[in-house]
Amino acid sequence: MDSKRLKDIRGLTDRRIDALLTLLSENSTIVVSGTKIAKEIGVSKDTVWRWVQKLRALGVGVNGHPSKGYHIARIPDILAPKLISRRLLNTPYWKRIYHFFKVESTNDIAMQLGEEGEAHGAIVLAEEQTKGRGRAGRAWTSEKSSGIYCSVLLRPQISPSQASLLTLVAGLAARDAVAEELHATPDIRWPNDLLVGGKKFCGILTEMHAEPDRVNYAVVGIGINVNQSRLPAEIAGVATSLRLESGHNHSRLEILIRLLRHLDRYYNQFLTDGPQPIVRRFAEVSSYFQGKRVRITTATESFVGTTAGLELSGVLRVARDDGRVEPVISGDVVEA
Ligand code: BTN
Repeated sequence: MDSKRLKDIRGLTDRRIDALLTLLSENSTIVVSGTKIAKEIGVSKDTVWRWVQKLRALGVGVNGHPSKGYHIARIPDILAPKLISRRLLNTPYWKRIYHFFKVESTNDIAMQLGEEGEAHGAIVLAEEQTKGRGRAGRAWTSEKSSGIYCSVLLRPQISPSQASLLTLVAGLAARDAVAEELHATPDIRWPNDLLVGGKKFCGILTEMHAEPDRVNYAVVGIGINVNQSRLPAEIAGVATSLRLESGHNHSRLEILIRLLRHLDRYYNQFLTDGPQPIVRRFAEVSSYFQGKRVRITTATESFVGTTAGLELSGVLRVARDDGRVEPVISGDVVEA
């Protein structure tokens, strides 16, 4: 993507703030003078001070002041591109990471990038979303610096009918990324909800631009509730965060890196070996795959049945009580 278009993306984090964060993180044991920082990242000492204040407002523990220099107590949990890209060198994601402090929706930006011809593997990250979107027109609560709000631009050579498998691929990746953070095993509720103790902490919104026979580009948007210490009253009964489950904070940076590595692995497996291994893995890790009593709500009806596996297109099969097996292409699933 050329730099002119890049400049048009309002709110993109200044690469020099990213450089400031990296510099402080790499020198976390020493005090770095404001003059040295200013020189290295190419801004005035006043700007360094302003940006330090901005980072503090985001919870980054920067000690010191302009005359003494600055010092960071520990690697900050900001999803800064420079800190991420060096950990993803063997994936397609390291090259184009778009970071925002505040954005309406990372999916919107990623769709815009797709439209403008940005390459496969571009990542859009935000510390906060003001209009985070969920499935079926719902909102996704995206409080500042406590969750992971990530959209991935993909250009798979698949037909639109296979696109729902991308959601499964992303769900499996997110599941593996958080599994080691929790004592309880996370579950996947078809097609895209990650649950722990029956409550949702991660959702995936896949959107695409397609022609009848091929996908031009797809955006997989992943939201994970990580360090929220409370959730809005209207969702608190059905939603949770990793922190609420474990009682301590988790590193968003580490979870995101694992998420993208697993995503790369499952995505390549899907393109190379087709849907079978993805569906097989889903069967291993989701209690919703088979034999679960569920209520299905689609655009046209609501009914109770028992799950009966997935088709290779990712469609859920549900056996009605009269024995008829219904393919569910999209809809809400809850345990009945
Ligand atoms: C759902 O479960 O309804 C899907 C939620 C998806 C939320 C993510 S957060 C990053 C990306 N940007 C958005 O606006 N939505 C997705």
